[in-house]
Amino acid sequence: MRLPIIKLNDVHKSYHYGDRRIEVLKGVRLRVAPGEVVGIFGPSGSGKSTLLHIISTLDLADSGYVEVLERVIDPERVSEDELAIFRRKHIAIIFQSHNLFPEMTAYENVYFSLLMRGLSPRRAGARARETLKSLGLSAQMNKNVQYLSGGERQRVAVARAIAMGAEIYVCDEPTGELDRENAINLMEILVDLAKEGKTFVIATHDDRLLPYFDTVYRLEDGILHKIEKKEVKHGKDAGTSE
Ligand SMILES: Nc1ncnc2c1ncn2[C@@H]1O[C@H](COP(=O)(O)OP(=O)(O)O)[C@@H](O)[C@H]1O
Ligand SMILES: [Mg+2]
Repeated sequence: MRLPIIKLNDVHKSYHYGDRRIEVLKGVRLRVAPGEVVGIFGPSGSGKSTLLHIISTLDLADSGYVEVLERVIDPERVSEDELAIFRRKHIAIIFQSHNLFPEMTAYENVYFSLLMRGLSPRRAGARARETLKSLGLSAQMNKNVQYLSGGERQRVAVARAIAMGAEIYVCDEPTGELDRENAINLMEILVDLAKEGKTFVIATHDDRLLPYFDTVYRLEDGILHKIEKKEVKHGKDAGTSE
């Protein structure tokens, strides 16, 4: 087995809420190999988003060991600016509702991200067109994203991440607003990317996605447990809504 691209040991995270402290992660261990598609199930409020924020370096663990792409994410030794640069370069974060600029076209969303990344206008334009085309979005390219369907918008978000060269895709309930056809279409795109070596960590309630996962976990009581797919199907995690 190849060296893990994501490595978490004994990760703890709490939030302070008024004078109460909520312990959300109580010693999470996780290994993700390059090209793996990982599904994380768990009841609402169990800490799935918290865990994804830590994996994507958007938030830091209180204690424990976090390593992403051979880089140790040590709050003592890494600045927020360094992390922001690292994240932009390697990690794509895909939410339930896309985080695109609604008043821009699909093309502009990808193009301007690439320009900000430092590509020349010519290269940014060519790469934006090519990536959108590869995801079946040629006809949508020049439409404002606010007029696209939920499925198309998620594909634009994925296109932008691919064009930016992301290696790790952290997805928080990415199919939460999609019908069955669009959910499956999106997962097929992600699985193809995984075959090229991209890595996916996907938090979800959506048991329609089960066939696409290599490994499935349940987050419960602050601990991540590896489970069998059939445990999701017949268990308390099933269901597509909160
Ligand atoms: N920034 C925050 N401040 C305080 N409490 C939070 C914050 N983010 C999440 N929580 C709490 O942490 C718990 C886990 O939340 P979350 O990670 O969003 O779970 P999930 O994604 O599984 O629904 C919940 O009880 C939530 O209310
Ligand atoms: Mg969540």
